[in-house]
Amino acid sequence: ARAQIGVTGLAVMGRNLARNFARHGYTVAVHNRSYAKTQSLVEEAGHEGDFVPSESMADFVASLERPRKVVIMVKAGAATDAVIDELLPLLEEGDIVVDAGNAHFPDTIRREEALSARGLHFVGTGVSGGEEGALLGPSIMPGGTRESYESLGPILEAISAKVDGTPCCTYVGPNGAGHFVKMVHNGIEYADMQLIAEAYDLLKQGLGASAAEIGQIFAEWNSGDLESFLIEITADVLQHVDAETGSAFVDIVLDQAEQKGTGRWTVQNGLDLGVPITGIAEATFARALSGSVPQREAGHAALPAHTQEWEIGADDDSRARFVEDVRLALYASKVVAYSQGFDQIAAASAENGWDIDRGAMARIWRGGCIIRARFLNRITEAYERDANLPLLLADEYFTNAVGNGLAAWRRVVAAAAQNGVPTPAFSSSLAYYDGVRAERLPAALIQAQRDFFGAHTYRRTDREGTFHTQWSADRTEQEA
Ligand code: 6PG
Repeated sequence: ARAQIGVTGLAVMGRNLARNFARHGYTVAVHNRSYAKTQSLVEEAGHEGDFVPSESMADFVASLERPRKVVIMVKAGAATDAVIDELLPLLEEGDIVVDAGNAHFPDTIRREEALSARGLHFVGTGVSGGEEGALLGPSIMPGGTRESYESLGPILEAISAKVDGTPCCTYVGPNGAGHFVKMVHNGIEYADMQLIAEAYDLLKQGLGASAAEIGQIFAEWNSGDLESFLIEITADVLQHVDAETGSAFVDIVLDQAEQKGTGRWTVQNGLDLGVPITGIAEATFARALSGSVPQREAGHAALPAHTQEWEIGADDDSRARFVEDVRLALYASKVVAYSQGFDQIAAASAENGWDIDRGAMARIWRGGCIIRARFLNRITEAYERDANLPLLLADEYFTNAVGNGLAAWRRVVAAAAQNGVPTPAFSSSLAYYDGVRAERLPAALIQAQRDFFGAHTYRRTDREGTFHTQWSADRTEQEA
């Protein structure tokens, strides 16, 4: 037994993670259901480091130093359970099983409970960054016991992305915490992508600009506060020309966005916890709307627009002002989406006793992952100022940043409504902003209605207690 870490499941993510471990000097045991993939990995990447290939699971496990560290990188769901079942009889107390797939966190909680009952550590780990990240340095979000992190953590930190020398990997919290944080990362990814798509649509319709021109605008934005991987690839994608037709690539792509489910899980969990993650929800529903083909056909045929003329002057200054408005609206909406996502992490952490450090999560998202961005430094700083910050938006930096763009944000949302450009994420983020800052909300009326039709009771602003009014009788009030 000489391998320091093992990877089972050698599709592209597993293969690249194994190569990343090897490139960092670790001896890596490798295994796959079909041996051909294991062989091709060793043939093609054998020169990069020290691999120990095994055909059987038993040989694979036997090739690992104790405590064994086995990384499972298979399709989330039943395949993960099947691999765990195969591994279990071969492992011994103290061994560490790492699930690096996109598992749903309740599955991770269940698996951790089952494995810890057998004296094993189960580490549900979020890994972000796609194929390239897995090879060159992903952002890694491991959950599980602190004890397992002592021996596993240094290896994961070694292969993770680094920003200013700091690894984009840290211990997240017990059982499902790592996969939970990865799920919220993906939810924020959905919101970020939707916001960028809305900004693109506004520039396209408002300015009548070509994809390439809009690509240049995104490239410029990438040198400021919005600097991020998603803005950078957007600039690139928009400037790409389809080889076959010679038209802008984005114009020949079918406009129906798909999803594998992590955004949906995030929204479902937001509903369970009662946390208003409206940006993520709108982004997920916008994908659903794009794929609702019969409804879109019926809507396109039947629904009038009654739009107004755009009020953007044709001169360069007016056009530049509109571009700047959209940039500010995008930034403000993005702050809202992140603020909501971090609220969700706080709520789940409290509910599950995970004690997640939100500032540390922003820190490990600065590099390697899909939502990596300059702006995450600001989030870390905000939680360093106040680890229990109830609302990220209320941190002084973000209050000022959003406040500076507030008038622009309102102009953009109003223009979108008047001109019939669908901007669910821009609009709902502004509505959230106005809702969360309001001194008084019309929720009072909702409580009154509930009491009227269902005797659901209400509380008063002027004294303690729970009350019901006898609506259908003499309308006297009773303490409930
Ligand atoms: C990552 C990504 C990745 C995710 C894809 C596709 O962090 O590397 O989040 O995990 O699976 O982005 O997600 P959808 O198919 O749901 O868009």
